[in-house]
Amino acid sequence: MKLVFCAAPFAPTLPDSAYADEVTAARAAGFDTVLIDFEALVNDRDVRAAVRRVQPSDQPTPALYRGWMLKPALYAELYDALQDRGLLLINDPAAYQHCHYLPESYPIIAPHTPRTVVLPLTPNAPLPDLAPLLQPFGDRPLIVKDYVKSRKHEWHEACFIPSAADQAAVRRVVQRFVELQGDDLNAGLVFREFVALQPLAQHSKSGMPLTQEFRLWFVDGQRIFSSQYWEEGTYTTWAPIDLFAEVARQVQSRFFTMDVARTLDGGWLIVELGDGQVAGLPETADAALFYRALRAAFAT
Ligand SMILES: Nc1ncnc2c1ncn2[C@@H]1O[C@H](COP(=O)(O)OP(=O)(O)O)[C@@H](O)[C@H]1O
Ligand SMILES: [Mg+2]
Repeated sequence: MKLVFCAAPFAPTLPDSAYADEVTAARAAGFDTVLIDFEALVNDRDVRAAVRRVQPSDQPTPALYRGWMLKPALYAELYDALQDRGLLLINDPAAYQHCHYLPESYPIIAPHTPRTVVLPLTPNAPLPDLAPLLQPFGDRPLIVKDYVKSRKHEWHEACFIPSAADQAAVRRVVQRFVELQGDDLNAGLVFREFVALQPLAQHSKSGMPLTQEFRLWFVDGQRIFSSQYWEEGTYTTWAPIDLFAEVARQVQSRFFTMDVARTLDGGWLIVELGDGQVAGLPETADAALFYRALRAAFAT
């Protein structure tokens, strides 16, 4: 198993500083690592240049990317270019999109995640009348995001809608979200019922509630690692070892994350899934332990 990381911009032989600790931890765990030029891929749309420094191998070698998020079309380009060099990424483009786009995995997680409706939308397009779409939510609070990301750090401005029935508030928050996402809006809008989650003992100053959330990592349906999601605040609970194990086995991806949260009434819900290759390792997680766990998952 080879690990593919991003090189530092303008320093093609050095890892991107944001991933330097992970590269060190991955090598210490026994992984071979290679670097790609992320800027060439995303800014120049030159996938050949992006993989230039990857040594071609004659034998098909399993590989896993750890780096910045990619739009599905670019992931597919990277997947093909690496395959041409003998590296086979763990998730094919369909598997990548399955966890990257919330609407794709929603049918699998639906029984355990807040009720969700979807509106495909191109970046910067005018908003249609949202009332019919949001009618099932009555006057309950919502959050808005795109198929991939929210603007949770602009919680009151562009994420949280206090009442689905308040048309002015809906328009204000959604409009602002679309504006802030700009050309980066991923595929459309997702509206989710807001569910009260258990707060952490301390609160952040950004207005976003910090709650008892965890990021769980799965390889081939098995949980291999888990960590607290937030770096600040005091956790008083831990995600049970078999939490949503049955759901995880149905997810159509070999390597993914499942973010889970404790609800105020003492239950658990799934916040979202993510492709394991582009999901951030939470700051409080021990990179050495993570890469050892990943290595052990592929040892057999
Ligand atoms: N339906 C919801 N009910 C309550 N809180 C939510 C809900 N959805 C998201 N959140 C909170 O907002 C944060 C960001 O939402 P998330 O869907 O994970 O967006 P992102 O993809 O930007 O991380 C979550 O970590 C959680 O704390
Ligand atoms: Mg999230």
